[in-house]
Amino acid sequence: MKLLFIGDIVGRPGRHAVKELLPKLREQHALDFVIANGENSAGGSGITPETAGEIFSAGVDVITSGDHVWDQKEVMELLASDKRFLRPLNYPPGTPGQGSGVFEVRSSEFGVRSSIGVLNVQGRTFLPPLEYPFLLAAEAVRRLRERSKIIFVDFHAEATSEKIAFARFLDGQVSAVVGTHTHVQTADEQIFPGGTAYLSDAGFTGPHESVLGREIEPVIRRFLTGMPQRFEVAKGRVLLHGVVIEINDATGAALKIQRVAEALTA
Ligand SMILES: [Fe+2]
Ligand SMILES: [Fe+2]
Repeated sequence: MKLLFIGDIVGRPGRHAVKELLPKLREQHALDFVIANGENSAGGSGITPETAGEIFSAGVDVITSGDHVWDQKEVMELLASDKRFLRPLNYPPGTPGQGSGVFEVRSSEFGVRSSIGVLNVQGRTFLPPLEYPFLLAAEAVRRLRERSKIIFVDFHAEATSEKIAFARFLDGQVSAVVGTHTHVQTADEQIFPGGTAYLSDAGFTGPHESVLGREIEPVIRRFLTGMPQRFEVAKGRVLLHGVVIEINDATGAALKIQRVAEALTA
């Protein structure tokens, strides 16, 4: 099976890019399943039932998130009502929502062809200290593997060392670990010896004439003065960033990993 993972969707330009570009990517890569990180889909901060609805309607099957998950209060409704929306697994017990799920993979020819486990975990280096991610993730993977051989992990983290160590720790247990959060696509895609595909960061989907999706000038002013600024979502040079991963259905091992950077031309 082939899946596309889309890096952090930023604001309206990001949502628009997914809607416009996903049908073409689906055809071009013969995609069976699409996962997207939506933590910045509402005005650049957080996610609401409306922005999630737009992303699902564009053809995304599962939405993951990260540290910005709480930025819009309407997210509570989404966490309670939609199992296709994940928040990082390693929030403390009792936190609303879910960090993993098992979903059906359908193809037009075969109907339901397999299942996929999706896991969202957040790192702790240069981020608020959540529960310890490594062992919690390993435990969740053990549970998911009882129901699906194919497992995808979005590891939302800042430090490349934490990301690589986390993915190496899970090598052979999951089909892929792809990083999010930095909004900068890395060029280190590879398949580890155990069969786990890896990319340190998928990048972000939205306006790249920007600082990580936001207007440039206010971010420069913030670094110059240290004073808080309003960071509006930028507009120019919209790209969809992500990664396509081909997986052996029978074993769950990754066969191929390919970065995606697709420009919105309209
Ligand atoms: Fe983000
Ligand atoms: Fe983030």
